[in-house]
Amino acid sequence: MTRVRPVDIVPSLLSADLARLPEQLRQVREGGASWVTVDVMDGHFVPNLSFGPDFVRCVKRLSPLRVDAHLMVSDPETVAPWFIAAGADRVIFHLEAVRDARALLRRLRALGAQAGVAVKPGTPADGLLPLLDEADIALVMTVEPGFGGAAFLPAMLPKVAAVRRAIGERACRLQVDGGINLETAAAAAAAGAEVLIAGHGVFAAADVAGNIRALRAKAQDAQEGTCP
Ligand code: DX5
Repeated sequence: MTRVRPVDIVPSLLSADLARLPEQLRQVREGGASWVTVDVMDGHFVPNLSFGPDFVRCVKRLSPLRVDAHLMVSDPETVAPWFIAAGADRVIFHLEAVRDARALLRRLRALGAQAGVAVKPGTPADGLLPLLDEADIALVMTVEPGFGGAAFLPAMLPKVAAVRRAIGERACRLQVDGGINLETAAAAAAAGAEVLIAGHGVFAAADVAGNIRALRAKAQDAQEGTCP
């Protein structure tokens, strides 16, 4: 039986009210989260432009939360070190954007960060499987990346389950990102997801801390419900 590990909710600051960032980060901590994710978009790999390394510096100055930089960029080999230098505790890049994912995973770890690799909905999980011993995170996108608030793609659930089975007892954790709300958090956790990225599901409604706690409870119940 695959080991059951606690589910983590990681809020995506893409959907936060940046005009109230210190307060939003305080509410994230009050909700029991220990990480936030910064969605980095270059306007080329995805049709949106978002944050640079200085935003990570700012978040690290404002809060003890750990920062996960999700690089939705065409040249992660070049920009990943910039985010680690800015204080990112983890960097996740896309398999579709590199020639040698194993080399980049090793390089990120050598630079002192945790390392993760992500696949878009149209990319089969096969490419992730040989990397599971070198990755701290395997990320299965459950929306087409680029924007917050997109609808969860239930067709990704078999892919989530397949990657979770492949991970087995390895330390690598399975992360999903996109469209996570109370209903989809349960479905994703039941399929094997252990880290749920949530933007709108955390920040769209006022009680940020309560939203995080509700998502975690739903996911944890669903995960426990599937374990014999
Ligand atoms: C790029 C981003 C979003 C974001 C989550 O698409 O990765 O998926 O983090 O946004 P929500 O939770 O609003 O779908």
